[in-house]
Amino acid sequence: MAQIRRYEPRDRDDVYDVCVKTGDSGTDATGLFSDDTLLPDIYAGPYLALQPDLAFVVDTGTRVAGYLLAAADTRDFVRRYRAEWLPGFAARHPSPVRVESAEDRMVCTGHEPERMIGPDQDRYPAHLHIDLLPELQGQGLGRALIRMLLAELRSRGIPGVQLGVGEQNRGARAFYRRLGFHPLPSSPQNELVLGLEADAEV
Ligand SMILES: CC(C)(COP(=O)(O)OP(=O)(O)OC[C@H]1O[C@@H](n2cnc3c(N)ncnc32)[C@H](O)[C@@H]1OP(=O)(O)O)[C@@H](O)C(=O)NCCC(=O)NCCS
Repeated sequence: MAQIRRYEPRDRDDVYDVCVKTGDSGTDATGLFSDDTLLPDIYAGPYLALQPDLAFVVDTGTRVAGYLLAAADTRDFVRRYRAEWLPGFAARHPSPVRVESAEDRMVCTGHEPERMIGPDQDRYPAHLHIDLLPELQGQGLGRALIRMLLAELRSRGIPGVQLGVGEQNRGARAFYRRLGFHPLPSSPQNELVLGLEADAEV
């Protein structure tokens, strides 16, 4: 029986693996880039290093096969990413001389933490990433993870959370809308940046 628990440092490789296996619009991104650590070094590692207190994992009993990672205050997270995470990231994934490929653009993404600062930061200061391997999907675990995060945000007095979702990721878009995530007040037409109040019932 899969169980949700807080992240522990020994889970890191499993979290990296889940990030890669779900990194191509929800499907396996293995081999998409020349270095499979590129995606998790952007979308998982910084959260494990900088905000482990908001990292939850799904433990199947044999491994971690899903997670929710979040930053409580995106502006603060960006400052810390630049100061504490970017030096190591840049050493492993140097800025491309010319930006020609999807991989070059992804490396640039990792060099630009300010991209994480979405609209309406005051009402939705937190942001999140959630990924489950296929064998854990469709069992209510995604909803349970979001519920845990909201409770944690409420206990810290953080009013809301936002996220970005890929246009092609129809499954995730349906999931978020089902839970009540909605376009942000300042960009009501943008269906790819969604927010939710911390006191929402999901
Ligand atoms: C998206 C994801 C986190 C959803 O988690 P999940 O555990 O599968 O979803 P849940 O079982 O908690 O579903 C909650 C509700 O959302 C709905 N839902 C979930 N996935 C859906 C889908 N693909 N299509 C339509 N509805 C969906 C469920 O039907 C459920 O509604 P219900 O209460 O009416 O039954 C998970 O499927 C996943 O990790 N996918 C791959 C990685 C990914 O795309 N991550 C998001 C990147 S932005």
